Amino acid sequence: MATNSHQTLGEFIIENQADFIYSTGELSRLLSSIKLATKVVNYKVNKAGLVNILGEFGNENVQGEKQQKLDVFANETFIETLSQREVVCGIASEENEDFIEIKGAEHSKNSKYVVLIDPLDGSSNIDVNVSVGTIFSIYHRVTETGTPVTLEDFLQPGNKQIAAGYVIYGTSTMLVYTTGNGVNGFTLNPGIGTFYLSHPNMCIPEDGNIYSVNEGNYVKFPQGVKNYLKYCQADEEDRPYTSRYIGSLCSDFHRNMLKGGIYIYPSGTNNPHGKLRLLYECNPMAFIAEQAGGKASDGFQRIMDIEPTELHQRIPFFCGSKNMVKKAEEFMRSEE
Ligand code: AHG
Ligand code: MN
Ligand code: MN
Ligand code: MN
Repeated sequence: MATNSHQTLGEFIIENQADFIYSTGELSRLLSSIKLATKVVNYKVNKAGLVNILGEFGNENVQGEKQQKLDVFANETFIETLSQREVVCGIASEENEDFIEIKGAEHSKNSKYVVLIDPLDGSSNIDVNVSVGTIFSIYHRVTETGTPVTLEDFLQPGNKQIAAGYVIYGTSTMLVYTTGNGVNGFTLNPGIGTFYLSHPNMCIPEDGNIYSVNEGNYVKFPQGVKNYLKYCQADEEDRPYTSRYIGSLCSDFHRNMLKGGIYIYPSGTNNPHGKLRLLYECNPMAFIAEQAGGKASDGFQRIMDIEPTELHQRIPFFCGSKNMVKKAEEFMRSEE
């Protein structure tokens, strides 16, 4: 799939501007701002062991998680970049209890877009030099332009997303995104700081042989998930499947995108609705998965059709190759 394309992300954004639902150039500027912020975060992540950026920040976030210094740095970088460049009217982040209204500057006030973001995904992997990422989601505001944003602008179902993407600060740094017209992946050339189109029109295989779940929580999983995992492990013609779990959603999702597979974070852990956040993690990944020909479900229904009720809402997540997610849903339904 990877090519030696010489097209840069910047060129790609401009060339595809005509495809955007709102082709005023505003979305292009917003995507370019996200691109810039990812380069700043990438720069910091890359030298994490050399500068004083590893370890805990000393605060708990609204999720009840111990914030890492890089969680805070990435959050501030995205918020500052997007607000200074006046490309959004509001931002909601995993790391902030409330949404942020971008006030003041004329452009922000009149912007049509809100961004929802998981600035640093895979926090627990930072200190051990395993890949982390960023996940973002863009919506058109539903309240009137020029007025202050409200919660309503952020509590939209995933099927209203205008764009979504993720970044992996990994072996190489990649930015993968969709505007509802397929999925494209770009790899950063760190020498010159430019993203190049390396994975055009990404498609997730319909079937796969990798399952990705934190099996340490097995005894707390719903019976449907337990049964599905036994199915994955059965010694049959095309099984057992292989188990791979990095613990950074971005990385586990990306591997499944390329190789085929299923990612599951079910209910039944310490939180009755699982761990992953509907707005910052599940909806953007669901949009990308579907755009690549895959599927995303809470075990029973399409993730992107769920009406959110709160900003930091959690939801069980089954995502990846279409036929694998369908199979997992069958197991869930049979134990309903
Ligand atoms: P975050 O670092 O943004 O809080 O997200 C962590 C998420 C996700 O990246 C990962 O797949 C999952 O938490 C891992 O959770 P467990 O350690 O419970 O398996
Ligand atoms: Mn977190
Ligand atoms: Mn996350
Ligand atoms: Mn995070």
